Amino acid sequence: MSIGPLANLPRAPLATLPTPLEQGPQLDSGARLWVKRDDLTGLGVGGNKARKLEFLCGEALASGANCLVTVGAGQSNHCRMTAAAGARLGLETHLVLSGDQPEQLVGNQLLARLFGAHLHFTGVPSSHWGALEIARESLTDALAADGLVPHSIPIGGSTPVGALGYVDAFIELMEQCAEAGVTPAAIVFTSSSGGTHAGLLAGRALWRSMGHEVPVVVAIGVAKGVVLGLPDIVELANDALALIGDGGAGDGVPTVTADDVEIDGRWIGEDYAIPTVEADDAIIWAARHGGWVLDRTYSGKGLAGLLGNAAEGRWNDGDDVVFIHTGGLPAVFAPGGLPHVAPAGEITDQLL
Ligand SMILES: Cc1ncc(COP(=O)(O)O)c(C=O)c1O
Repeated sequence: MSIGPLANLPRAPLATLPTPLEQGPQLDSGARLWVKRDDLTGLGVGGNKARKLEFLCGEALASGANCLVTVGAGQSNHCRMTAAAGARLGLETHLVLSGDQPEQLVGNQLLARLFGAHLHFTGVPSSHWGALEIARESLTDALAADGLVPHSIPIGGSTPVGALGYVDAFIELMEQCAEAGVTPAAIVFTSSSGGTHAGLLAGRALWRSMGHEVPVVVAIGVAKGVVLGLPDIVELANDALALIGDGGAGDGVPTVTADDVEIDGRWIGEDYAIPTVEADDAIIWAARHGGWVLDRTYSGKGLAGLLGNAAEGRWNDGDDVVFIHTGGLPAVFAPGGLPHVAPAGEITDQLL
């Protein structure tokens, strides 16, 4: 769906939308779980970045770019999906990645190469976002000096333009909930570079300004930056809202305030991409209750946060809670991508 001025913003149709909203099991606390399947956005095996890339690539094409540049962790879903977007749109794609070039490409890197992207390994650890961003800027300058017209996308595609994808997603989800007769108490999802969060909060502000009741949006932080409040989600959300205007309501631009922001940073564990017992348990729980495949870096920790909050008594009988499954499938096939699954089909509690 697209509301008012959102429909007039440059957008490349890359995702298969709307994604399904599936009813899940009742949790031990009595709350009912719903799963918004943004792992099924279609582009390059799916995930949340397809929604952001629709607007980011719309911006690229509108500006006359012939090349995409972006940056991420070695197993970045965002980079893999940018590679798929480049392939779909005929744009040469360059990816700046943390870590060293492995002997054999696996998971997201393998798919990114399959989609034809150029991979640039920096040797920089995945947590050094500043150094990675500098490498992206240097590569962008070098490509421009070579005569290309690059459109350079920051980590995670988390710009105000990228966040528009989740403004749209919030409205899409609210319409699906209304159709299912559900008034969710909360929407829970995994947050890393903050663009998904900012977009959801901007969409929520817009929906609220149209006179609707809104659920709380709970971000489960899986990267140290976002857990510490970086980027500034309020600023990012309000910058996205400024691009939209008043959504056609004629009542002025709605705003997001600090009171709207909730980041639960308790489920990150030691650091970004370091597995946790809670996430591994959530991965197995999801696989065995809905056939949902979660990963150890993002969606596994996100669902661990939802299940943890429910177990603490936050959502009970009669409450509906939506988990946005943001994807992450390819990393499951990288070494150590899943908790140990015994060959006979029995799950043990032994981890890789
Ligand atoms: C599977 C998955 N889930 C969630 C996120 C978090 O999205 P954001 O970076 O917009 O916070 C990412 C980001 O890379 C991701 O790949």
